[in-house]
Amino acid sequence: MRVATSLLATLALVASTVMAGPRPSDTIVINKKVLQTSKVPFIPHNGTALFTNWVGLNVDFKYVQPIFDLVNATHSLSNGTLLSRGESHVTVILPPEYDNILHPAGVTIDELNALASHNNRLQRAKFEIECLGRVQVVSKPDNAFQQAVQIILKNFGDIVAYREDVYKLFVKKGGNPALFDPWNFTPHITLGYKIRDIFVEDGVFKGKNACIHKMVAK
Ligand SMILES: *[C@@H]1O[C@H](CO)[C@@H](O)[C@H](O)[C@H]1NC(C)=O
Ligand SMILES: *[C@@H]1O[C@H](CO)[C@@H](O)[C@H](O)[C@H]1NC(C)=O
Ligand SMILES: *[C@@H]1O[C@H](CO)[C@@H](O)[C@H](O)[C@H]1NC(C)=O
Repeated sequence: MRVATSLLATLALVASTVMAGPRPSDTIVINKKVLQTSKVPFIPHNGTALFTNWVGLNVDFKYVQPIFDLVNATHSLSNGTLLSRGESHVTVILPPEYDNILHPAGVTIDELNALASHNNRLQRAKFEIECLGRVQVVSKPDNAFQQAVQIILKNFGDIVAYREDVYKLFVKKGGNPALFDPWNFTPHITLGYKIRDIFVEDGVFKGKNACIHKMVAK
């Protein structure tokens, strides 16, 4: 009897966990303080290995974690459970942009970090929330189902202005303008993923195209 009761309680808990979360008509609300990124420090990312040099706008994970927890607990959003990095940021210069394009033209990570931290410019950038997004693809050649969930941004002109200044520096150093597009950019805050994060290189685009649910900051 005790076993049956506790089994029932467990089943009820599982059912409520699976069924909890927003209905399609609900809007997910994130604390608007997440937009006040000037309150958290700029974190430089530099190293000697490939994929260790990139520029990010640091985002306070305190306001992102509740959204991760909600998505992770809502099957219609997460389609299972997700891995978290335990931190949050907006990638502004992607590792392959640095490794393959900017660095070969003589642009250094120190220059990019100096440009980002001058007057705390990047952390002070204004942006807004477009939606909750999700991208899925079967990766090649391993044939694995991949999925990543993210907060997609809009009205991020300040961030693009930084990329435009990176573009000017790149061209001044003799970089080929065809290889770096400051405007070809879909900023987002990664929440979690199934196996690994997935990127343009995997064939997915994290713009408005990837929205799966309404989200608002307030
Ligand atoms: C990263 O940048 C800092 C500050 O410029 C420097 O002291 C450090 O040596 C750099 N690390 C690597 C691995 O390049
Ligand atoms: C959910 O994930 C499975 C793989 O775990 C995948 O085959 C399926 O297409 C996904 N479905 C949805 C609706 O995301
Ligand atoms: C996501 O949800 C699963 C199932 O409830 C849980 O085991 C896991 O710890 C959660 N992930 C994180 C990073 O909190």
